[in-house]
Amino acid sequence: MRIAVFSTKPYDATYLGRAAAGEHDIVFFEARLSPESAWLADGCQAVCAFVNDDLGAQVIFVLADLGVTLIALRSAGFNHVDLAAAEKAGIRVARVPAYSPHAVAEHTVAMLLTLNRKTHRAYNRVREGNFALDGLLGFDLHGKAVGIVGTGQIGEVVARILNGFGCTLIAHDPVENPACVALGARYVGLDQLFAASDVITLQCPLTPATHHMIDAAAIERMKPGVMLINTSRGAVVDTRALIQGLKSGAVGSVALDVYEEEADLFFQDLSGSFIPDDLFARLLTFPNVLITGHQGFFTHEALTAIAETTIANVSAFARDGAPLHPVGPPRSG
Ligand code: NAI
Repeated sequence: MRIAVFSTKPYDATYLGRAAAGEHDIVFFEARLSPESAWLADGCQAVCAFVNDDLGAQVIFVLADLGVTLIALRSAGFNHVDLAAAEKAGIRVARVPAYSPHAVAEHTVAMLLTLNRKTHRAYNRVREGNFALDGLLGFDLHGKAVGIVGTGQIGEVVARILNGFGCTLIAHDPVENPACVALGARYVGLDQLFAASDVITLQCPLTPATHHMIDAAAIERMKPGVMLINTSRGAVVDTRALIQGLKSGAVGSVALDVYEEEADLFFQDLSGSFIPDDLFARLLTFPNVLITGHQGFFTHEALTAIAETTIANVSAFARDGAPLHPVGPPRSG
């Protein structure tokens, strides 16, 4: 099949090219998929898109007019796809349901440890010959209560790692994970998790139910000075409420790998320009906020698995008319 890959970074071309091994004709575009760039897929039967590509109804109907019949997401999350429009347009949507939960879980814990022990600040100080410890005080993770919201594949690995640190595990998920129960995790309602956790980490998908799950009311119910980690999707957290929480001290520290308006910021070099988002710029002013640019997935193992599953989805669709990992209701034919 001829595949148009949008939002291509050099590593996408490397890993997808290797996985396809000449089986498909792949054209790589740096442009983000949008109503303006969708025409680039002309002549392609499949489009490969990433988390910040626009897959709203307008783009989907343009793609359908161009003859695209498959959208192969190279991500697990599919909250950015208008599935009803895809269904209507006769376009199948596929995703990579699992690649490396370890990649995201390990990044989550890396952020937690960095934020707590302030290794990012210590690194800079020591390089400048400043060996003072003021401002670097952390806490023992051992014995602390960590609330995990969402105990699917990634949440389970986070639970395993934090169990190793000697944390008390508190969990919230509509579906209990027996592996987490076996680790000693106590499933509770969201309010109980908020009230009991020293650290809260979000590993749930973005859905209408989780949109702005962390808002002003939620923050009010948390332990004063709580540490909050979000490596799931930005819009699970209401950024304005978070900033208010940081200003009042209700929120002690925050680590974010995702941001609700990240589409115009992340995955590009803006160092010679300016931050066009005042809320994000405000977040950067807090010394107790640590932000990475959606890199939880970014390991060799995860990129290999993402590329291989994406190509397997396209190959299965070309062969059988159905991708291996469809999103949305199955259709006949
Ligand atoms: P998963 O589907 O295995 O687990 C998600 C869990 O969240 C499920 O157990 C589900 O029951 C639970 N859940 C659903 N609604 C919930 C709610 N209202 N409250 C609490 N829990 C709820 O997904 P996986 O692989 O663990 O990924 C989780 C999320 O992580 C993805 O949806 C994606 O948004 C994000 N992600 C972030 C990446 C990054 O690079 N930062 C990379 C990959 C995924």
